[in-house]
Amino acid sequence: MYPLGEAVERAHTHPVARAPSVSTMAKPYDVHDRFYRKAKAQGLRARSAFKIDELAERMGVVKPGIAVLDLGAAPGGWLQVLARRVGPSGLVVGVDLVPIKPLALPQVKLLQADVTSPGFAAQLAALTPTKLDLVTSDMAPKTCGIRATDEARSLELCGIALRCAQDHLRPGGAFITKVFMGGDFKVFERQVRARFASIKIMRPEATRAHSFEVYLTARGFQPASA
Ligand SMILES: C[S@@+](CC[C@H](N)C(=O)[O-])C[C@H]1O[C@@H](n2cnc3c(N)ncnc32)[C@H](O)[C@@H]1O
Repeated sequence: MYPLGEAVERAHTHPVARAPSVSTMAKPYDVHDRFYRKAKAQGLRARSAFKIDELAERMGVVKPGIAVLDLGAAPGGWLQVLARRVGPSGLVVGVDLVPIKPLALPQVKLLQADVTSPGFAAQLAALTPTKLDLVTSDMAPKTCGIRATDEARSLELCGIALRCAQDHLRPGGAFITKVFMGGDFKVFERQVRARFASIKIMRPEATRAHSFEVYLTARGFQPASA
């Protein structure tokens, strides 16, 4: 179904999976669960691909020809799903701190960058000359095991993702971001609500049972000047 490169055993390299006993954001789990096996069988680079597939299906916003920015895209599971859904007439820009093995698809552009760095906005602007229809973020910080710190880092990345959405979305565009419940989650939720017509919190089936993560999905972007 996805002849787009080999499945990478992402579950082994994810920081939470490597050290479940020291993280308070997730409990130990079976790294070889059914989504992992399904991802491997389908040539998907990460089991998290099933999360974006479900979110896209439920939101109905990922259509052929649209332009998407995917933040925290390595190793590329979401990219594979998004690229298939937007098709060759669409665009998916994948950004990550770490290199992403290229996908041989004309609609996919890759950028290795730290979204927290001062030069990031300019780097991104050079790659996305047109207004985007959707910004997604599955970014996750390196966890240190102190829950308040991990939540704060996660929210910092969410804030950057929201800023990218505000800078690059067309009016009416959509936004999806992973966020850890807790900390200032409610504050972030209010910030998103202020700029989008509707928001929903979703927890895709592929989410690990004990994970605190949810996905905040928003539609109907309203630019400040609109
Ligand atoms: C859970 S993984 C994403 C998996 C991806 N959605 C997939 O399906 O393959 C989270 C990613 O966020 C990235 N990330 C964390 N902090 C970042 C930052 N400051 N800038 C860019 N990427 C970042 C990590 O490098 C990591 O690859």
